[in-house]
Parts: sequence; structure tokens; C-alpha cells
Amino acid sequence: QTDFVQAPFLAPYDTGIDPVDGAPVNYYSVTEMVSTANILPRLTTPILGYNGIFPGPTISLDQGTKAVLRVRNQMPLLHPSEGYLLASSVHLHGSASLPQFDGYANDVTNPGFAKDYRYPNFQPARTLWYHDHAVHFTAQNVYSGLAAQYHMHDPVERALLPQGQFDVALTISDASFAQSGALGYDANDHSGLWGDVILVNGKPWPVMKVQKRVYRFRILNACISRSLRPTLSNGDPVTVVATDGGLVPVAQTVASWRHAGAERYEVLIDFRKYSTGQRVELRNLSNENNVNFADTGKIMAFDVVDDAVDTTDPTWNTIPTQLAASESMSIREDAATNVRNFRVNRNDLTGVWTIGDNSWEEVVASGFKKAIANPALDAVEIWQFENNSGGWFHPIHLHLVDFRILDRNGRPPFPYERGPKDVVYVGEGETVRLLMKFGPHRGRYMIHCHNLPHEDHSMMVQFRVGMAEDAVDVNDPVK
Ligand code: C2O
Ligand code: CU
Repeated sequence: QTDFVQAPFLAPYDTGIDPVDGAPVNYYSVTEMVSTANILPRLTTPILGYNGIFPGPTISLDQGTKAVLRVRNQMPLLHPSEGYLLASSVHLHGSASLPQFDGYANDVTNPGFAKDYRYPNFQPARTLWYHDHAVHFTAQNVYSGLAAQYHMHDPVERALLPQGQFDVALTISDASFAQSGALGYDANDHSGLWGDVILVNGKPWPVMKVQKRVYRFRILNACISRSLRPTLSNGDPVTVVATDGGLVPVAQTVASWRHAGAERYEVLIDFRKYSTGQRVELRNLSNENNVNFADTGKIMAFDVVDDAVDTTDPTWNTIPTQLAASESMSIREDAATNVRNFRVNRNDLTGVWTIGDNSWEEVVASGFKKAIANPALDAVEIWQFENNSGGWFHPIHLHLVDFRILDRNGRPPFPYERGPKDVVYVGEGETVRLLMKFGPHRGRYMIHCHNLPHEDHSMMVQFRVGMAEDAVDVNDPVK
């Protein structure tokens, strides 16, 4: 039993004004480095970390404030145990960034170099996360620690949901450890990684002390492969108030939810009704096509304490029912000018994972030209993903856009998925239809499976927005 902790917030080292549009700008800096973490009792674990911590520091800012994130790669040339080149690429997952700041897999920064990533932060409030995206080594780099949350606030969200110490980040991951405390990883297994230890914010099965009030949890599944099905041990439901792209139009009360890698769900838990000293556990009911161990059914626990509750805080007892309808949720299906179908699959001959029968190998071989789709700027389209490769689920992530899930196998999406999304759970035997508008930037963006060993081998392709196939790309991420 370990104490619950959260990653520290990262303070900007400077602030300024954008000379073009007068917007405020926050300047942040993180250094990627080899370090150690105390994850298991009495053992030290070698990690890679943003500023040397696992998970990395949380960035928190307001919509309308731009950010420049300077990332210094101070890692050694080669991964200390795995021996591959520690080039990095940083993706802010959930941000509509320009292509050259989007963490394009081959747009890597080598050890000894730095890159400034510019983030526009014009989208509605949401939970984002920044993580490594280096070609072929994303899984190992994220597993080693290169992942962190990023919170964007806006006035609507601030008025409706708990803030400050009652707005709590939960980054859940799984890991396996050697006797020495080192992280265990099998680089030859391209199907996935299922660890036997569940970590929350880098600590195994922690216990958090909570007051008798409503809390907001920003739950990020940062597992390399595992999907979760969180639930409370006493059977009480939780209230889902936000998905990947921010607030849901209508709050959803659910007993559990299916939560794949990279998806974010924000939930409210109401601890008012529990007695002082009561323990409520957050458990994992598990989903099909995962590998489970003795304690992977547990995530963390909450101990209710009788601290005085500030009842003047309007969020202490508020569970909103109506939240906000973001633009991505109000796009009409009949506005779609194109319907595309993509199979998610594995090539039986080569063992390579594919999307639309393509993989990143083909993108690389084409000089980064080949795209599975070329939507026009601001085009509304329906994309369908079909998973009939038995035995696997695939969390499919589209960069740049927020989408709405229209249906799964012809049925409405699960209640908790009825919000703006950028990752969709495509379970075994499932066909999912998504509706989205392509913009506001032109250029090439990745789309991939977020089971990271799948992505690395090579379940990743790209789409190109608002550009003829041979057009000169002013935002070229690999020039
Ligand atoms: Cu969170 Cu392209 O990834
Ligand atoms: Cu996959």
C-alpha cells in the first residue's frame, strides 16, 4: 500500500505576448533524461523522464494562452538497457497543433539537441497528455516514463466542475519489474505488453485520502497495451463529465466503462454519502483480449476522512447534468460529403499490423507522401473502422481532429462515449463509424493504433488535409 501522489505542475519559465495576434504565451521547458524513480518499496527503477520524473510534470493553462514547450533531449545516445537510439518526438495528444509541432514520428530530435513545440490552445477545455512518439520506439519510450498530463481550462468548465485540489489527475499504467526493480520489456513481442503491477501516477495501487465531497478525476489510461474497465468496489456509479475532447453535452451515470490506452475520461465521484473511515476501491473489471494477473483487478483506493468540507465552494456537492455541446458534437451526419472504410488488421504473411491495408513502412517508402485519405480543408466526413481480425482490440487515434462516434455495429455508442473523442475503442468484431470535420490546419497527420507495440510495428498511416497530393507542404514535418 503506497500513498497517493500527483505529478507536480510545471511553471512557465517566462511569459510573453504573441506579436502577431496579441495572445498571451507561456514558455515552458522540459528536459528528457535518464533518471531513477522509487516505484516499488526498497527498489529503484531506472527510467526516462521529462525532468527525470515518472510520470512527467503536468502543464495547466487556460484556453487562449499559447504555449511554447522547449524539449531538450539530454538522454544518452542509446537506451541504457535496450540499446536503441534515444531520438525523441513529442506529441501533445488532444491538441490541434500544426504538423511540424505535432510529434510526427520521423520528426525526431537526437540526443544533445532541443526543439520548441508551439501549441495553439484554442480548443475547448480538456485533458490532454504529452508523450513520446519516436518512430518504432514509442512503446518503449512511453513505458520508460516519457508521458505526462496537460490540462486546458476554460470559463465554462471552471464554472461547472471542481478545481484546484479537487481536480485530480489519475495517470494509470501497468508494468512488470525485474528483481532489481528495472522495468521489464520484451521488444520482440509485437502484440502488446501486459504488466502485473498497476500504477497510478507512478505508484502501485495507491491509497488517497478524500473529504466527504464531490471530486473530479481526470483519468488517463497510459498503459502501453492494456485496456481497463474501472468500477467502484461498492457498486456505486460515477458520473462521466468529459471525454478526450472535453465536456460531454449531457453527464452520464455509469457503473463501469471500457477505457483503452490514450483515452481520457473525466468522472465525478461523490464521497458525501460515505462514512468516515470507509474505504472505497477503484477496481478494474477487465475487458476481452487482455492478459490479467493476480492484482490487475485493482487500481487504487480512497479512504474517506472527516476533514471539514468547505461548503461555500459551489462544486462541493454539485453534479451537473447538462454541460456543453462542443462544435464537434453538433456536426450533422448529413453534412458528410465522403464515407471511407478502413479495415484494422494484421498482414498474415508479414505479421505487420495495418490500417486500411497500409502501414508506416509504406508511408516511409513513399518519402512520406502516401496518405490513406486526402480530405479537403473543413470537409465533413464519415470514417468507418472495421476490426474483424480475431483476438485483438485496437484503440484508433486520429491526430488533429475531435470526432463524434456515430455508432458501433449499428448500435448507439456507449453512454460514456457520447462526447468529443480522439481515440475510439474498436473491439474484436466491432465496426465503428466516426463523424468529423477536417481542420483547421492543412497538412499531414498520423492515424494509428494506440496499443503502442502495434503502432511501432507498424499500425500507423497518415491523412492529408487540404492539399493536393503533390502540393508543396509549407508545414512539412520532415523537411
Ligand atoms: Cu497519443 Cu499519435 O498519439
Ligand atoms: Cu492495435
